Amino acid sequence: MLLKGTKVFLTGGSRGIGKAAVFELVKQGADVAFTYVNSEKGAIDTVDQAKKINPDVTMRYYQLDVRNSKQVNEVAEKAIADMGTIDVVVNNAGILRDNLIYHMSDEEWDDVIDTHLTGTFHVCRAFLEEFLYNKAGKFINISSICHVGSAGQANYSAAKAGIIGFSKALAKEYGYKNIYANVIVPGYFKTELTDANASEMIVDQFVRLSMLQREGQPHEFGKAIVFLASELSSFVNGDVLYVTGGLDTIPPKDEKRKKKK
Ligand SMILES: NC(=O)c1ccc[n+]([C@@H]2O[C@H](COP(=O)([O-])OP(=O)(O)OC[C@H]3O[C@@H](n4cnc5c(N)ncnc54)[C@H](OP(=O)(O)O)[C@@H]3O)[C@@H](O)[C@H]2O)c1
Repeated sequence: MLLKGTKVFLTGGSRGIGKAAVFELVKQGADVAFTYVNSEKGAIDTVDQAKKINPDVTMRYYQLDVRNSKQVNEVAEKAIADMGTIDVVVNNAGILRDNLIYHMSDEEWDDVIDTHLTGTFHVCRAFLEEFLYNKAGKFINISSICHVGSAGQANYSAAKAGIIGFSKALAKEYGYKNIYANVIVPGYFKTELTDANASEMIVDQFVRLSMLQREGQPHEFGKAIVFLASELSSFVNGDVLYVTGGLDTIPPKDEKRKKKK
């Protein structure tokens, strides 16, 4: 097992690719603390399924809105106390509020920037003290192929590009102290997030543009998390790992995203 005894904190483990990552982590022996914001049922289900995969691991889950820095600090402190320490932090929580720029409200812009970019900053800052004390730690921050700019998703594109810059700065500030900050750029994975926001036509385009000619399976995202959390990636820092099946462009504007005023 690659991660036996490694203690991981992951945001957004109640569904989607975050949930799949929890399963891959426990498969490799990691103890996992994860968060949800609304779906407590989803969080309980994650624990139940993870315990079936590996009954020997320790698991905790917490309600957390990553936009709220006070809550983030409290949950980080609690997770460190409950787990003994935290070795790896995964910033995965995310939302979409798509609209064309002309029609985008302040709320749609702020919700997405606050959840992805500011949330990632809040969570990394909250665990830095523990990592510095341990003289070790790994941040894995989740961007998106949309960081290159996706029509109808300016808020999301900006946040996901920002996560790359933020993570590289983090690695430059603390890499020499044995603290890692890497980014995963996922391609297209079928989850509630993508299901609710992409038409069949867009999904089909994503598939056709990928070199593997298919969507990613959530467990394949989980395996990339395992790689960056483990010793296998000991010389990978400030880097960006693409887990896209070879998708290097995104489909043009989806007609469904056009909203009339
Ligand atoms: N799926 C893809 O193809 C894809 C591609 C590129 C990037 N990504 C990125 O991968 C991450 C996960 O995506 P997904 O598709 O798995 O999404 P998802 O199925 O919608 O799950 C989102 C997760 O984030 C949590 N969350 C949402 N808002 C939050 C907040 N303010 N504070 C804390 N947690 C919050 C949700 O908790 P609740 O369940 O409690 O609501 C849920 O656990 C996101 O960062 C997304 O941008 C996904």
